[in-house]
Amino acid sequence: MTLWRKWQHVFRSQWLLRYEPSMLRLILRAAIAASLVVSAVSIPSCSRDKETRQEPASEEAALLKEFKGAYAEEAPPSTGIREFEMTAKPSVVSLFEGRDMEVWAFNEQVPGPTLRVKLGETVRLHFKNELPQPTTIHFHGVRVSNAMDGVPGVTQPPIQPGDEFTYEFTPKDAGTFWFHPHVRGSEQVERGLFGTLVVEDVPSLGFSQDVVWVLDDWRLTPDGSKIDPRFNTGGDLMHDGRWGGTVTVNSRLNHELLVKPGERIRLRLVNTSNARAYAPNFEGLDAKVIAVDGMYTERPLDPAGFVLAPGNRLDLDIRFSEQQRGELFAVVDQFSSRRTHQLASIRVDGEPVVTPDFDSPAQAKIPAWEGALFTPVHTEFVLNARRGGKLGIEWLINNRPYSDYKPTSLVSGQWHRLRFTNSSGRLHPMHIHGQFFKVLTRNGKPADEPYFRDTVLLRPRDVVDVGLVPLDVGEWMMHCHILEHAESGMMTVLSVRSSDSDSIRAHAVKP
Ligand code: C2O
Ligand code: CU
Repeated sequence: MTLWRKWQHVFRSQWLLRYEPSMLRLILRAAIAASLVVSAVSIPSCSRDKETRQEPASEEAALLKEFKGAYAEEAPPSTGIREFEMTAKPSVVSLFEGRDMEVWAFNEQVPGPTLRVKLGETVRLHFKNELPQPTTIHFHGVRVSNAMDGVPGVTQPPIQPGDEFTYEFTPKDAGTFWFHPHVRGSEQVERGLFGTLVVEDVPSLGFSQDVVWVLDDWRLTPDGSKIDPRFNTGGDLMHDGRWGGTVTVNSRLNHELLVKPGERIRLRLVNTSNARAYAPNFEGLDAKVIAVDGMYTERPLDPAGFVLAPGNRLDLDIRFSEQQRGELFAVVDQFSSRRTHQLASIRVDGEPVVTPDFDSPAQAKIPAWEGALFTPVHTEFVLNARRGGKLGIEWLINNRPYSDYKPTSLVSGQWHRLRFTNSSGRLHPMHIHGQFFKVLTRNGKPADEPYFRDTVLLRPRDVVDVGLVPLDVGEWMMHCHILEHAESGMMTVLSVRSSDSDSIRAHAVKP
């Protein structure tokens, strides 16, 4: 079979739908349209029925009013500078409970260092590139100024081998973030270049432990001695990117967290995988989700059903009772119902301690945005693939690969409803830099997500609408976080300009 025949085979359902607009597609469309009408009409709020519905402009004004104060527009005044030194270079690191592996690492650690700062502190990171390739560092989810966003050719030139760059920013949000290169990500991240940035609350919250679990998977050579050096393979590009068979938490195969009865811990989950998604099961534990993608939720939420796609974070507030003493809890990934596997375990042991008592931090002001469904879609992003490009297949946003992107203009401080339409049969965790958004609908049905995100997973043929009020002006990347899809073209730029730049320009062109 030729490679092209194989692609045809793998993409069969996708090509069929693409080239033969069959009944199936019509039925699907009709169903989505019908459910949109039904959901729009059945929104319970009394002021939102047909008669009293507002005009789009005032509807948008109402949405903006709801958004006001949802999260800080500016960073708090800097209370000091935290300096970090970080070097990226080829290293040998002991992974998987004692196997020496050749990796590329930040400060010879995989995962890279956990940078901890307090909200209000300025991060100053002196970075040196000792890799055989250019690189940059992007701080995922952190609302930095555009110049510090680490995107080659968009916010900074790539940092050449042997060169240095200093990243400096004051985080605006307390929460769980991470960082990774934005050059040849599918190779550099897979080789081990990623780390966590924890921005702690002020005053601190009083959890008895604050734990980071970095979820990652590795594709190794058959003898398990090396990272498989074949990146962006045809199979990776045709499917959901590079999924490795070796799944680790903090680079361990059997990570075990030890807690004492009575403890109340904060568990920060970060998915740094190139492509794999996880649905960790916390059954049997008194666990609540308190933050998604670094941002606190409106209220503590049941962790059942949460998925961490590449890039996502999830923070949990877990309490252990005295009765649980001696118990061992397995945290199992159930993303694929056919193949579940244990990620890590939690052992409750030792002398009981007094449970810290404080209010859950999950009490963010999250706009309900029920009126959002009456606003027009600002831009639709259609996700699909085609043959061609330097890797043989190109992933596209609105029929364009990144090499040919057209920026989408957004206006700072204004309401935008964006739509992602997955026309492919693959997964696409779509990530927007520098902003948070809220999922409004999935496949036409209103979504119940009382929190913001920076990355949302689209399953095959999903249509997801999100609400976004961009705050920070600049050129912000929007891309699939399956790094092989991003590498083969699935990236574009959201160009956020300030609301008065129009009038400035208007004045400027006057003679
Ligand atoms: Cu983690 Cu451009 O993203
Ligand atoms: Cu994708």
